[in-house]
Amino acid sequence: MSPAAPDRAFGIDIGGTGIKGGIVSLATGELIGDRFRIDTPQPATPKAVTKTAGQVAAHFDYRGPVGITFPGVVKHGTVLTAANVDPGWVGESLVDLTTPVMPGAVTVLNDADAAGLAEARFGAGRGRDGLVVMVTFGTGIGTALVHDGVLIPNAELGHIEVHGEDAEHRAAASAKDRKGLSWEQWAERADEYLQKLEALLSPELFIVGGGVSKKADKWVPRLHLKTELVVAQMLNNAGIAGAALAAVEGIEKS
Ligand code: BGC
Repeated sequence: MSPAAPDRAFGIDIGGTGIKGGIVSLATGELIGDRFRIDTPQPATPKAVTKTAGQVAAHFDYRGPVGITFPGVVKHGTVLTAANVDPGWVGESLVDLTTPVMPGAVTVLNDADAAGLAEARFGAGRGRDGLVVMVTFGTGIGTALVHDGVLIPNAELGHIEVHGEDAEHRAAASAKDRKGLSWEQWAERADEYLQKLEALLSPELFIVGGGVSKKADKWVPRLHLKTELVVAQMLNNAGIAGAALAAVEGIEKS
């Protein structure tokens, strides 16, 4: 008899300011118990971040598969880009680094991909067919493409060019603060960016997440898209939940 499929897995979300972890129910995507967070060490070098991620994991009484998100391109366990984090990560195997400090087999994936997976399965995109595009507006712009529930990993669409600039430089949530933009001014930039994605991808649904999604009433009504757009539902826990899902289901053929 094959062993019963696990009903839970552990997710860790590595972000620029915090490293968060939690045990996730694979039936609902909800956390089982509390979430635990430690500030991201600065500088966020591979060694320092690995140590902190290990401390987050050690906080829990858990043994089993672990999913870990990273804010850059991650392919076959290795970090290929680090736009908003320590450049020392590029070329490092996040799987090899973290495995010794984790309570089980490690799967790693991009942060926006994890959020998109979780929202598509359990949150704002649940039950939706076709192409669902998740966009997270934070320090950078993260994007995830999920087609009929299947993730197409590492879509770095936050870096398309808009007015000769990297889109995330113009339209990330951090650009609003950095440039002192009003909600109206920032909404114009987000609108322009999302219209570009719409023209390129013709999705069925956009899901917008990131810190600014908590203030969606200030900017979402100012968008002019033909595509339906909904606000992320899982907020702070989408990354953790998506990481846990990936830990059990995998994200790439090995
Ligand atoms: C990175 C993406 C990441 C996004 C959100 C971008 O700068 O290139 O990989 O998903 O920021 O953290």
